[in-house]
Amino acid sequence: MKRFFLENYGCQMNAYDSGGMERLLVEHGYTRVRTPEEADVLLVNTCSVREHAEERAMNRLSEFARLKAERPELVVAATGCMAQRLGGGLRRRIPKIDVIVGSQALPAVLEGVEQAAERNAQGRRSRPFVAAEPLAHYLPPPAPSPGQRRLRAFIAIIRGCNKRCSYCIVPFTRGPEVSRPPEEIVREAAAQVAAGAVEVMLLGQNVNAYGSGGVDFPELLHRVGALSGLRRLRFTTSHPRDMDRDVVARLATAPRLAPWLHLPVQSGSPRMIAEMDREYSLEHYLEVVAAAREAIPDLALTTDIIVGFPGETEADFSLTLELLERVRYDTLYAFRYSPRSGTPAALRTDAVPAQEKQRRIRALLERQRQISHARNQRFVGRALEVLVEGRDRRRGHWLTRTGHNKILMLAECSVAIGGFALARVERAEGQTLYGAFVKPAEG
Ligand code: 5AD
Ligand code: SF4
Repeated sequence: MKRFFLENYGCQMNAYDSGGMERLLVEHGYTRVRTPEEADVLLVNTCSVREHAEERAMNRLSEFARLKAERPELVVAATGCMAQRLGGGLRRRIPKIDVIVGSQALPAVLEGVEQAAERNAQGRRSRPFVAAEPLAHYLPPPAPSPGQRRLRAFIAIIRGCNKRCSYCIVPFTRGPEVSRPPEEIVREAAAQVAAGAVEVMLLGQNVNAYGSGGVDFPELLHRVGALSGLRRLRFTTSHPRDMDRDVVARLATAPRLAPWLHLPVQSGSPRMIAEMDREYSLEHYLEVVAAAREAIPDLALTTDIIVGFPGETEADFSLTLELLERVRYDTLYAFRYSPRSGTPAALRTDAVPAQEKQRRIRALLERQRQISHARNQRFVGRALEVLVEGRDRRRGHWLTRTGHNKILMLAECSVAIGGFALARVERAEGQTLYGAFVKPAEG
């Protein structure tokens, strides 16, 4: 029996890809194990989005490579975005690495692992197996798992990105956009729902650019949303450039669409947005926000912000804080700008000092913390439909999720995990809601 340990870094698309690799390996006789010590093959599915993500993956790979001193037959594999970016160059950092498979060549992972295992068993030391050329065929989708029911299914609909945001490495690691055929997506969603999923999250670096067989993104949402048995439909990530009033109006009527939208703005300064090559104006962004709030009642809105992009002044940063007050996001993800070699912004010499980035990110998160807290008060006293997702026995809490993608903790609940309940919100603290079970929700 061949056993593998697989660790994932990065975005939900990467997690989805890890699921695909797992399926490929399992279908070829491998078993997934929970610790590196039990495994014959150690895989790290890496991310390149910021330097920190690469450092973490690199440390993990070095740790795994050290295990080979005791067990030379171990296979150590790097897959995903960092493997794509560095290719064979990874070997300079980790000389003992056996397999390097980029995010555009993931189906090659099986061949890589098998070749390396054979080579190691024979005690031959040679170059690592490297695959980074884009492959036309893709990994199988992660297997639906009726055994351990997955309530939320993630489904890739479009891969890669044709945008050229000046800070971003993703177009280089994941390559140009490729949309999957709509029938394939609907089939995969149906299989997940049949296996017990009640929520589907459609994934793409930019879902709004989806297009295949004459079906665009709003149409695809309608088709997936129409699946019987599905209760909640979400998608991420949206690019504001590819949305307008018309698109928003069409997608808002998709069946079972949850009232949650992640719409990265990156900065509140028009000058920064332009220098990031985001290809929209702040006015356009605000217009899309307004349209979404009109079309989707009670919408929860979240965003991504980069602080300390080269040349960002105090005045630019203040505009971002002003934007937070204006839009009043439910929550946001903030990142310190991290130069990625090969991107246009990495060539700039007007870097913001690390300390200043740190100060800005703190100020941003503090402001957002107050806004999130204030925004969440709107739920207090209301009864919301929640998906019962789990139970923390130690603290005696039930963990449930609202359509707005917020966690609502309940002390008691007579609906089993995987069911829907009505719950009344009693208080809101920071990001989390606390409440009381009312009754089972109607199907
Ligand atoms: N530095 C910091 N943050 C980045 N992001 C993408 N590239 C970088 C970078 N070079 C952020 C963006 C994006 C999120 C997924 O990661 O905010 O929306
Ligand atoms: Fe990381 Fe971006 Fe690759 Fe996802 S697509 S793994 S966030 S670099």
